[in-house]
Parts: sequence; C-alpha cells; structure tokens
Amino acid sequence: MKKQDKKFYITTPLYYSSGKLHLGHCYTTVVCDSLARFKRKDGYDVFFLTGTDEHGQNIAKRAEEKGITPKEFVDNLYRDITDLWSLMKITYDKFIRTTDEYHEETVKKIFTKLYEQGDIYKAEYEGWYCSPCESFWAESQLEDGKCPDCHREVSRAKEESYFFRLSKYGDKLLKLYEKNPEFLQPKSRVNEMVNNFIKPGLQDLAVSRTSVSWGVPVPFDNKHSIYVWIDALANYLTALGYMSDDEELFKKYWPADVHMMAKEIVRFHSIIWPSLLMALDLPLPKHVYGHGWLLFGGDKMSKSKGNVVDPYFLVGRYGLDAIRYYLLREVPFGNDGVFSIKSLLGRYNDDLCNSLGNLVSRTIAMIEKNFDGKVPAKGNFKDSLDKELKDMSECLIGKVREAVDGFNVPQALTEIMALVYRANKYIDETTPWTLAKDLEQKGRLGEVLYNLAEVLRFVAVALSPFLPDTAQSIFDKLGLGKVPDDFDSLARFGGLEEGTPVTKGKNLFDRINIDEELKKLEEE
Ligand code: MSP
Repeated sequence: MKKQDKKFYITTPLYYSSGKLHLGHCYTTVVCDSLARFKRKDGYDVFFLTGTDEHGQNIAKRAEEKGITPKEFVDNLYRDITDLWSLMKITYDKFIRTTDEYHEETVKKIFTKLYEQGDIYKAEYEGWYCSPCESFWAESQLEDGKCPDCHREVSRAKEESYFFRLSKYGDKLLKLYEKNPEFLQPKSRVNEMVNNFIKPGLQDLAVSRTSVSWGVPVPFDNKHSIYVWIDALANYLTALGYMSDDEELFKKYWPADVHMMAKEIVRFHSIIWPSLLMALDLPLPKHVYGHGWLLFGGDKMSKSKGNVVDPYFLVGRYGLDAIRYYLLREVPFGNDGVFSIKSLLGRYNDDLCNSLGNLVSRTIAMIEKNFDGKVPAKGNFKDSLDKELKDMSECLIGKVREAVDGFNVPQALTEIMALVYRANKYIDETTPWTLAKDLEQKGRLGEVLYNLAEVLRFVAVALSPFLPDTAQSIFDKLGLGKVPDDFDSLARFGGLEEGTPVTKGKNLFDRINIDEELKKLEEE
C-alpha cells in the first residue's frame, strides 16, 4: 500500500459528565491519542474524533438543579472537556458537539430515512426505565430487579414511542460475529454480547421520547425527541459530513478503523450501532474495542461513586508524561486496572526515573565527561553485545507496531522499556567507568557511549506517540532538534552523527520518596 492510501479513523466515545472530570475520563482519550499519534508517524492519514454528548434528560435535570439553561450547562461541559484535553495534550482532528447544527440536521435525516424505509415505526411502549442511563429494559433483562448497566432502581414507564426494528438484525449480528471475530475486541466481550443479548433475542428499541425536550426533535412529529443514544452514535458519521452537502471526509475515512470505549457502553456500539449501520446500508467499523475501567478503591472511578481523582492535581504534581505513562502502562488492556497513588509513584520511580531517566543521565554525563559533550565515533557493531543492542533497536518499531495494531498499548510500552532495560544492562556489562580509566580503551569507550546514545534516539522516537514531552526532552539533550514526524530514522542503527553536542541538563524525572510523599498527601 502506498503511504497516502493508508487511512486510520479512530474515535473516542462522546463525553458527558455532570460533575467534575476525573482520571477515569482521561483513559480512553489518552489511549486513542497515543494510537492516533503512532499511526500519523507510521504514515497513515489519521482522523481522530472526539466530542461531547450534550442532549438528554440527565443534562436537562442537572442544568435545572444548577439553575442554568441546558445550553449553558453544555457550554460549560464543552469548556471543561476541551480544557482537560489541552492539559493531556490530546491531538484530536475534530471535536464534535451533539448540539452542533450540522449534527442535529443529519440526525434528523437519518431518523427520517429509517422511518421512510420501515426500519422505524410508531407504537406504544411499556417497560422498565432507568432514568440515569436513559434506557428502557425488558423484565428479563433486569438484574435483581435493577438496571443491568448501572444497577440503580428502575421504574415502570409507558409512552408512545418510535421503535427501531432491532429484532430484525439478530441473525445478521450473529453472522457478523461468526465471520468477523476481529470486529469486537477483546474477545471476552464477544461472548457477553452474543450469549447475554443477541441469542436470547433482541427486542425492538424505543428510539424516541416524549418526556425529554432537550434533544433533537423527530422532524415529522415534534412532540417526540430522538433517543439520546441514536443521536450520540450518529456522531461518528455526522462528524465526517455524512448526508451533508460535502461528503468528502465521509468518503475518505468511513468505515471507522476503531471505536474505542469502556466496557459498559460496548453493548450500544456492538449491537445497536452495527444494526443502525446495516439499516443505513453502510459498511461497518472494522473494530470496536471495549477496554476495562480504571478502578479506584475497587470501584469504577466516577463522580456518582464519590471517589474522584483530579487530573489537574496529578499532572501539576507529577508531570503530564508520568500520568500518561501510568494510564497507558498500568491498566492491563481490556481488563480493569486499579488506581492507587502508591502504584503511580512506584511506576514513576521504577520505570521512568530509575530506568529511563537514569539511562539518559548516565549516558549523557559520560559523554560530557569523556568526550567533551560530543557524540563519539561509532564502531562496527561486531562485538556481540553491541550487535545485540543494535538488533534489538532495529526490531523495536516493528514490535511496537504489532502491539499498536492489536490495540495493546501497555505491550507497546513494554517493548520500549525492554530496550531501556537492555541498555542499562549493557552499561553494567561494558563498564564504561572502567574503560574511562584506561587511555588505550578510549576508542572502545567511545563505541559503547555511541551505542547508548543511539539507543536513546531509538527509545525517544518510539516513545514519542505515548510520551511526547519526554521524547522531545531526550532529543533536546541529545542535541537532535525536533523529534521526527515519522519512524524512518529507526530503520538503521548508527544514524546518530558523530560530534552531535549533548547536554545533560535537568533530570527527566526526579526520584520521589514514596513514604514521605504519601504522608504529605494525607496531610494536605
Ligand atoms: N456519552 C456516552 C458515550 C456516547 S458514545 C456515542 C458516555 N459518556 S461518559 O462520559 O459517561 O463516558 C465516556 C467514556 O469514559 C466511556 O468510555 C466511559 O466508559 C469512560 N469512562 C468513564 N469513567 C471511566 C473509568 N473510571 N475508567 C475507564 N473509563 C471510564 O458513556
């Protein structure tokens, strides 16, 4: 494939938060940002979409409680979310708000099309309604009489509604899962969807509400508004201009390469969304990935559970890349990860400070001391230790790519850290401090330090999609200017030029005394 033919359309869920934003909210978006940054550098034409979910009863209720209009409420939400993404250095290509006019117009067109072709019909509905989730449930779907998603109380509700013929898509979905096991990942989620939802039989879905005024009105029946999930899911199409005067982006990027989200909303994305797309006769996304939750004290971190962790506080105190690294590395992809300050500080000290930071400072300090701060000449890489380091470096980007292609970001970081560990071991094996004592060994010392500096260049470039600031700091120390926009320079070990001026400067990460820090945090 030629480079310009490679496209990658990646989406986060649309965000909605009625309270303060917490670290859990950052998880999906930081993962998507790293994948998007990686793919851009890997020659893909990337479209990274994120946005806010701004309609529905919950928003209207929250706004009323606060004594503001829903519009004011969602403007605050939009400001808070975009501020948070600036803090986390999220490189989205487009930010969509479901109150954007173009989005609302297309949602109406989609609804009308589905109605006209008979995929949506009007009837009376009675069922169990979960107000926080804005979802109707059949008796058989309740868990202990409560909402199967959030486990809160449900109430009996009856209303005239428009229905989407979801029941019609059960067999098609089963075929999709059978023929395309890669569609929904990780695989464990497939069983859950197939056995708990599809096989027992899908019921038609109520897709309008008469009780909710803060929403997109059904264009031909104004007392109804369109169900918030239909409105929200459609963003993946409307953001590309689907059904608008300008469908260029849609033609270029659809179908999505991956919709990324946490597990509790996988059902909407892996059952309702593909069914809607089939009804619209559109190609399906290539992958839907449902990651686990970031748990705090054993529970999902969310405002309603009262255990908030503030990203501003954490980034302010430990630096952005420490937090990005923790999110990307600590949560086993696909499974839940338990957040604790102790594990955050442990990762920080072990991986970032002692391993990466030390490798950088030791290497550069030795070049400053023994070679007047200039990268020495390279050797011929024939020594077996040198060759091993060279081979490992040249394989690095391939391994990281493989992990990224499987959406396994922790694995990508593990691969990079493996080279860091290997290089630290190389220092112990080659003992440059001993070589430095013997004038006759100056040539060998130069080769060893060259190899270490060259490893740092590889590590920095490979790390740049995940920890962009750290990568740039390593480049600054190596006197290499801006981290390149592609991975081409990682094809060959030995590209670093002799004589490049290096500067040790400040530590990348200062060691934290964990006991003292924990005590301080408790006292604050
Ligand atoms: N608005 C819906 C999504 C509509 S998509 C068409 C929604 N919004 S949300 O703000 O509640 O959640 C946004 C994303 O953040 C979801 O993937 C959600 O699961 C994720 N997270 C919120 N708290 C989380 C954790 N503690 N851990 C990991 N992800 C979590 O759902």
